[in-house]
Amino acid sequence: MTADVSELERRARELLRPEVYDYYAGGSGGEVTLRANDEAWRRVRFLPRVLRDVSDVQTSVGLGHPLNLELRTPIAVAPTAFHRLAHPEGEIATASGAARAGALFVLSTRSTRSIEDVAAAVAGPGGCWWFQVYLMHERDLTARLVRRAAAAGAQALVLTADTPVVGRKARRPRDGLIEAPDFLANLGPLDDLAVTEFIPVSLADIGWLADISGGLPVVVKGVLRADDAAACLAAGAAAVIVSNHGGRQLDQAMPTALALPAVLAAAAGRPVYVDGGVRTAEHVLAGLALGAQLVFVGRPVLWALACGGADGVQAWLDGLTAGLVHVMALAGAAALDGLPGLAATVDPGFTASG
Ligand code: FNR
Repeated sequence: MTADVSELERRARELLRPEVYDYYAGGSGGEVTLRANDEAWRRVRFLPRVLRDVSDVQTSVGLGHPLNLELRTPIAVAPTAFHRLAHPEGEIATASGAARAGALFVLSTRSTRSIEDVAAAVAGPGGCWWFQVYLMHERDLTARLVRRAAAAGAQALVLTADTPVVGRKARRPRDGLIEAPDFLANLGPLDDLAVTEFIPVSLADIGWLADISGGLPVVVKGVLRADDAAACLAAGAAAVIVSNHGGRQLDQAMPTALALPAVLAAAAGRPVYVDGGVRTAEHVLAGLALGAQLVFVGRPVLWALACGGADGVQAWLDGLTAGLVHVMALAGAAALDGLPGLAATVDPGFTASG
């Protein structure tokens, strides 16, 4: 499995139907944010430490109460929809590959395999998974999914807050991208698909999800502003994920590398994670050095899934963690807790633009 994400994407593009590739790769509007996410990571600059013992670099990370999780790597798999478009085993392959790589897997509400089957695939290799929640028009549909995820062993819920309506994609897929049995894998037969449309989320939904799930921690995904982060944490969120949905919601939204510092300041030591355009070990290092505790990847995992199923996902994630070990050594940090002290600043000459 190549570590070069452009090469991985090129190979996946050859294998996927063109409309599926476009659905995965595309962003909303003029794709300004899609491009700016990647660019912003590349503009982060490090001040490496020297004269440190980096003969044994460790990437393990512990998420404290209430998440209570020990992970081998701070690289995690972001929730993405419809994995059976990439591979016949769909989310089962992705989840088991992630578990074998020691990476946290977040299962999308839009999974094309059953929640219980994915849970079993993660449990085998001793991995762990969280369930991502979209609030659907029929609230009870959401509640049933959340209760099933809790019963199947999800250790937290990820409430996606940035999708009050679905962003219009520049590369608009043809109708019929997804077959009904795949779309309905967890929803059962439905007379009217309108009940699955998303509705806006409110702060009160954080407590609602904790209640109906029997007390699972709730992580809010899609936060870009300091005031929103503070409000989510005050309303009971266990953590926030700085995300612009990989440039698929509001176009020209701030790239995540640029939004992260203000959110971290507002979180005042509470956990903050990040995603969007993370493609290389240096990007992961940048997210961690700016102060995020976990760094999520979306599209590259889909490319790895398309190219090699569970083995492909595992190999690509293992390669990224190995790359992180390498750049941590170069940066003079033997453990993740040495990274936030490592000065990482955005190149002051940089202005976020497409
Ligand atoms: C997503 N994302 C997403 N997020 C979410 O909360 N629920 C979902 O079902 C999906 N579905 C989805 C499908 C596809 C094809 C993509 C590319 C993305 C957003 C995802 O969790 C994450 O925020 C971004 O993918 C991160 O950006 P990168 O790593 O893809 O650049």
